[in-house]
Amino acid sequence: MEHFFKYLNLGKIINSQPQNIGFRVILLVPSIVLLSVASLHLLSSYSSSSPWLMSYINSISFGKKCDIFRGEWVYDPNRLPFYTNFTCPEIFDQQNCMKFGRPDSDFLKWRWKPAGCELPPFDALRFLELVNGKSMAFVGDSVARNQMQSLLCLLATVEYPADVSHTTSARFKRWLYTTHNFTLASFWSPYLIKATETTKPNGTTKSLTNLYLDEAHTNWTSQIEAFDFVIISAGRWFFGPKMFYEKGHVVGCHFCMRKDTKNLTMFYGYKRAFRTAFEALLGLESFKGEVILRTLSPAHFENGEWNKGGECKRTEPVSRAEMKVNWGDWEMYKSQIEVVRGVEREGKKRGLKIRVLDVTEAMAVRPDGHPNHFGHWPRENVTIADCVHWCLPGPIDTWNELLLHLLEQDQ
Ligand SMILES: *[C@@H]1O[C@H](CO)[C@@H](O)[C@H](O)[C@H]1NC(C)=O
Ligand SMILES: *[C@@H]1O[C@H](CO)[C@@H](O)[C@H](O)[C@H]1NC(C)=O
Ligand SMILES: *[C@@H]1O[C@H](CO)[C@@H](O)[C@H](O)[C@H]1NC(C)=O
Ligand SMILES: *[C@@H]1O[C@H](CO)[C@@H](O)[C@H](O)[C@H]1NC(C)=O
Ligand SMILES: *[C@@H]1O[C@H](CO)[C@@H](O)[C@H](O)[C@H]1NC(C)=O
Ligand SMILES: *[C@@H]1O[C@H](CO)[C@@H](O)[C@H](O)[C@H]1NC(C)=O
Repeated sequence: MEHFFKYLNLGKIINSQPQNIGFRVILLVPSIVLLSVASLHLLSSYSSSSPWLMSYINSISFGKKCDIFRGEWVYDPNRLPFYTNFTCPEIFDQQNCMKFGRPDSDFLKWRWKPAGCELPPFDALRFLELVNGKSMAFVGDSVARNQMQSLLCLLATVEYPADVSHTTSARFKRWLYTTHNFTLASFWSPYLIKATETTKPNGTTKSLTNLYLDEAHTNWTSQIEAFDFVIISAGRWFFGPKMFYEKGHVVGCHFCMRKDTKNLTMFYGYKRAFRTAFEALLGLESFKGEVILRTLSPAHFENGEWNKGGECKRTEPVSRAEMKVNWGDWEMYKSQIEVVRGVEREGKKRGLKIRVLDVTEAMAVRPDGHPNHFGHWPRENVTIADCVHWCLPGPIDTWNELLLHLLEQDQ
């Protein structure tokens, strides 16, 4: 656990450039996510690339003609990154892999090739045209913010937004693209639902989080009504000891180690959290937006677990046969699909579009896209590799190419 706190402090050390001073708070956040990864070891840690998995993935399809989420990465030596850390000042140090000397850049040269069609490269002008006069919110954890920053960097080639945040908290950012009257916002809500910590992780005790499974977090629900696009996601925070509440009462727990409390899986809580988030949105009378669930972003610790020297030092995508994804990650992905399938009809009745931004398959084979040890200076003794977030620029930019494709489909 001690490492977490080194990692946590690191935020302040790295972040000594004046332009980044406002982001100090936020730099603590990725470390908290890593903290949640802590509990990965509680799960059986076997990885899976078994045939059932591929047949399961192939059985999930979005779109009749061409499913843009099923395909492969194709090496394209001419593909250039859409931005650099010079053209986009919004890259957090932890994801600014080039700054910290990542030596290879071939990981930037792969494009996603859907099986039956082409995914066009990101077109910032077109994106802004499609969202003209509209608003888009990312609700979730630091990976949600990772995608929002990728989008901000992608759009920066055309327009840099004004910071119109309502709070000084870096967890709740609001940007306005004045020439397109497009509002981009991020809402920090790693569980999507109300959550409280019972014990502070102080290096010796593991925290136990209370999750109120039927109460969407007001941090985002109170402000989401006016948004045209709401992109929800959640992930690593669900690992680790949890106490589950429904209607204000304990209904069970996950690794709370109490004899008097029913043992439930983390997936139970995960599914309920998403269902509650959807119900909250469907229940907002004047909400007319589109809800997009961004599926699980897989982590890639190899040669050890996250806290036992695990790292992600590959420099190119792996084949499907080599793909190793934690069993828990796949269960979370399946849970998300199950929830979406369950709420689609309700959405229709209510006249709301519910869609899926399914990045899981594409990212499962991109262990080369994470910062690994290039989210800080080598001299800073950080022993934990970041195989959870994604380098900017990097394959996460494709999430926004996929998002643009969804917007095009709305036309
Ligand atoms: C950008 O990356 C380069 C290495 O490619 C590095 O030298 C520079 O310090 C970085 N600049 C910023 C502002 O992150
Ligand atoms: C900008 O868009 C918002 C909706 O996102 C709308 O309420 C507002 O009237 C628009 N402003 C202008 C100047 O068009
Ligand atoms: C950590 O917290 C636990 C419970 O609150 C406490 O018993 C313990 O003394 C604390 N340890 C340190 C090093 O502060
Ligand atoms: C988010 O919720 C917490 C309580 O859980 C509250 O203290 C905080 O002020 C809220 N922040 C915003 C921006 O809504
Ligand atoms: C839940 O599981 C833990 C660990 O396996 C065990 O110690 C505890 O007694 C179980 N609780 C119940 C209510 O079965
Ligand atoms: C990093 O570790 C080395 C060797 O253990 C030590 O000499 C050095 O002071 C450490 N540096 C920092 C910044 O903690």
